[in-house]
Amino acid sequence: MTSATANIVDTIEVRQMSATIGAMISGVDLGAELSDATVAVLRQALLDWKVIFFRDQDITTEQHLAFGRRFGELEVHPFAPGKPGYPEVLAISHDADGPGYENLWHSDVTWRLQPSLGSVLRNVESPDVGGDTLFADMYAAYDGLPQRVRDRVDGLVARHDFAGFRRGLQRRGATDEEIAEFNATYPNPEHPVIRTHPETGRKAIYVNAGFTQEIIGIDPEESRELLDLLYRQAAFPEYQVRFRWENNSVAFWDNRSCQHYAVSDYWPNVRKAERVTIIGDTPYFDDSKTPTEPTEYPFRGAILRHGRD
Ligand code: SIN
Repeated sequence: MTSATANIVDTIEVRQMSATIGAMISGVDLGAELSDATVAVLRQALLDWKVIFFRDQDITTEQHLAFGRRFGELEVHPFAPGKPGYPEVLAISHDADGPGYENLWHSDVTWRLQPSLGSVLRNVESPDVGGDTLFADMYAAYDGLPQRVRDRVDGLVARHDFAGFRRGLQRRGATDEEIAEFNATYPNPEHPVIRTHPETGRKAIYVNAGFTQEIIGIDPEESRELLDLLYRQAAFPEYQVRFRWENNSVAFWDNRSCQHYAVSDYWPNVRKAERVTIIGDTPYFDDSKTPTEPTEYPFRGAILRHGRD
């Protein structure tokens, strides 16, 4: 490492924001050309904290795209509106005529065969009050499950679908032929219910209320019960961090290890954000992989006091 690079890395501060999830990063200008050493620090912070936040990033769309590309290839979302002229930038805009609908726990684009590694969201216009986003640690949620539930769900596989987007397309007048073409282009993937993170080796709950339809190969009633139980884990505050946006705040989250929920409490006010989404790999479950992080958390006893075994 050159001394110039070392100096750059030395100025980065990573401040923990809750027990296991969320860190505020300072000392990085996302609009600058980042050194490999800085990108490595941010990547490690993302792996450790699942979502990292930045304030006061008055960056251009090109700089936003360039930052995302340091972590992988970016996708073009086939259903959600993009920013005109920038197909890889999702325009997440809500106002009196279009209330927010991202208020359900999910990991981005799990209806893809290769879902997302991570998403980088920049807030462009924040309401004075409300519009926070919550993030939940899916490693901690998995670790907090009773052993008998972990034993049951390890190795199971679930089907995912873009059902909400399909309904939106139908509402906007898409024909049966158009829907059939989307169905053929984006066939339902089957992903592990518990995913082994490809970089940390840790196990995370990888079903979500947004896109998962059913667990394959088990009784439908048990599938519903297990999915309900797994979805409920994201709702425990002990696994969460809540982020209050300001204009030019940026959140970069790891879709492989956390889920998020955008609180839709600001209607009829305006909230505008822009997101780039980094393509990930094919999810897998590998029980033999040795995790690189500890799996014990101080709040686990508190979870157990909610009456579960
Ligand atoms: C999303 O679900 O990606 C949007 C999150 C947000 O708007 O805070």
